[in-house]
Amino acid sequence: MAQHIFILCLLSSLLFVNGIPFDFFQLVQQWGPNICSPAGSKCYAQPQPMFTIHGLWPSNFSTVPILCPRTKKLFPQGKVTSLEQHLNKYWPDVISGKNSNFWEHEWRKHADCIDPPFTIFWYFDISLRHRMNKTYDLLTILNDAGLSHQTHKDLISQNVLDPIKNATGMEPGIRCNINGITKKLQLKEIVLCFGNDGTTLIDCPSFVSNTCTSQPKFVWLLPQQSSVGVPDYP
Ligand SMILES: *[C@@H]1O[C@H](CO)[C@@H](O)[C@H](O)[C@H]1NC(C)=O
Ligand SMILES: *[C@@H]1O[C@H](CO)[C@@H](O)[C@H](O)[C@H]1NC(C)=O
Ligand SMILES: *[C@@H]1O[C@H](CO)[C@@H](O)[C@H](O)[C@H]1NC(C)=O
Repeated sequence: MAQHIFILCLLSSLLFVNGIPFDFFQLVQQWGPNICSPAGSKCYAQPQPMFTIHGLWPSNFSTVPILCPRTKKLFPQGKVTSLEQHLNKYWPDVISGKNSNFWEHEWRKHADCIDPPFTIFWYFDISLRHRMNKTYDLLTILNDAGLSHQTHKDLISQNVLDPIKNATGMEPGIRCNINGITKKLQLKEIVLCFGNDGTTLIDCPSFVSNTCTSQPKFVWLLPQQSSVGVPDYP
């Protein structure tokens, strides 16, 4: 019995006190308008046509992403006050408009339990730095490659991935969802991967791109606009 308790304590201290080790970060950027248009999704307002941060997810080469156990730890909002202006612009909650709740959700779900631990400020600051770095500006890269959300064009993953790889030197990731009206596949997210120092861009493992192939082609923006209404989001 005592032995079992000892092992349990050892396990929980390994998992929770020292945190969960990880291999790399996924910086996930979402195309706001396409977050609101799958069946059953509603947003409080039509999102800006821009890529905004979904989250920075510590991940493993074997399992993605790592999810933190639920805790009741406080999220000291004051730690990101100096970043708030940029966070509101580049990390909005397009669904409910409750931006700071979204930041807290992402921090608790993906970052709070990670080893080696990083500070709340570091986590949000590094995410913003990457989002605002012109080298990785996804909209500019895609527009320069002749792709636009304003023109209907059937795409395959490489149409989006190649120009980004060209611009950054590393393999990005791509994810899609399904438009509730047309039932067609559409661009949802683009992922840039960084080493576990948070700063060195690396190739994303291929499993990061796993949802844009269920139909032969996908689109960036469909003629159908996103639905706007009362959010079903917790
Ligand atoms: C992630 O990978 C590291 C080794 O790189 C390992 O120590 C850790 O247990 C893995 N975490 C999960 C949740 O699989
Ligand atoms: C932007 O990214 C490039 C390439 O990783 C890096 O060399 C540069 O220092 C970054 N710029 C800023 C302002 O962080
Ligand atoms: C990659 O860059 C080269 C050199 O700038 C350019 O010729 C080529 O068309 C680019 N390819 C893509 C897919 O953007």
